[in-house]
Amino acid sequence: MVIRPARLAPPLECVRLYDLESGLDGFIAIHSTTLGPGAGGCRLWPYPDMRDALGDAMRLAEGMSYKNALAGLPLGGAKAVLRRPEGAFDRVALFRAFGRAVERLGGLYVTAEDVGTGVADMQEVAHVSRHVAGLPRADGRAGGDPSPWTAQGVFESMRVAAEFALGRDLAGLTVAVQGTGNVGADLCRRLADAGANLVIADPDPVRRDRLAAILGARVVDAAAIAGVDADIFAPCALGGALNRDSVRRLKAKLICGAANNQLASPDIAALLIERGIVYAPDYVVNAGGIINVSAEYLGEDEGAVASRIAAIAPRVLALLERSAREGRSPALVADAMAEAAIAGAERAAA
Ligand code: NAI
Repeated sequence: MVIRPARLAPPLECVRLYDLESGLDGFIAIHSTTLGPGAGGCRLWPYPDMRDALGDAMRLAEGMSYKNALAGLPLGGAKAVLRRPEGAFDRVALFRAFGRAVERLGGLYVTAEDVGTGVADMQEVAHVSRHVAGLPRADGRAGGDPSPWTAQGVFESMRVAAEFALGRDLAGLTVAVQGTGNVGADLCRRLADAGANLVIADPDPVRRDRLAAILGARVVDAAAIAGVDADIFAPCALGGALNRDSVRRLKAKLICGAANNQLASPDIAALLIERGIVYAPDYVVNAGGIINVSAEYLGEDEGAVASRIAAIAPRVLALLERSAREGRSPALVADAMAEAAIAGAERAAA
């Protein structure tokens, strides 16, 4: 496995988590704390090899630094990655042990849900640590499952990106959605309401088929989704959806989806330009979830969340316009903007 060198700097801190009794096995990677505490979700996944888990933690933590900086949040970047134990396991014990590890970091890391974890898990963390968000919301305060906010930001970004790249509103366009989990399913509902045609894929037949029946979406095999006839491709599953093979098969002229780390390697950005495919960078369009998490952690209300999420689509449009003007990939333009924000804060603190 190759761990891609960090773009800014290596993680400040990478903590190995191991607790025999609860089955806790994973990492917390803290990539940057220049703008504030390192914030990013906790992923639970059946990693067969812990070197893959470490690589994921480092890449995802780095991605959070960029995402938080570009969203204008007072947060650095970090991520927790846990190996899902084989067979039955005590979920309460595992997340309490994880929570104790988060608390020991004294606020350097703020956790929340990610793939494989949910609100109930974060409630267990909250029993033993203050440094957690994604908890049930109360009386107008920000909180709860961040997925609907993420889906809203992706949907609004897709709308402006479709106008920019295809010169059209979403009505009548065909969108291929890869992954119909929490964000993908919510995005599909919004797209159906906007009059888009849907093609969906998910290896989980229950989630996928129920959604297809409700929305009248066409179902295809997970291996085929990237190559279907569609105007827009929305990766909403795991990372690495855009690789040499899938990009060659793409018929869509616009990519806009929720998944983190969509580019399997940095050179894919150039391949997309060669193929004339517009890419709305993942961490810019999917910032809705962390915006909600940030507001919850800082004790803000839902109004603050809504206004920051309303800024995502205009930011995406500005970025796509700048990328077209400069003849550079939107991914590189986004990285440059995020790096400038972090470097500016570093200079101000010096
Ligand atoms: P989820 O776990 O609810 O859904 C992921 C879905 O993808 C599952 O239904 C899974 O069966 C499916 N899937 C896995 N491999 C697939 C494949 N090869 N083809 C098609 N489908 C496949 O996760 P969630 O919360 O919906 O997140 C989706 C993506 O968005 C992840 O990459 C996550 O990191 C990212 N994201 C999520 C945020 C949130 O607020 N939940 C915030 C920002 C990013």
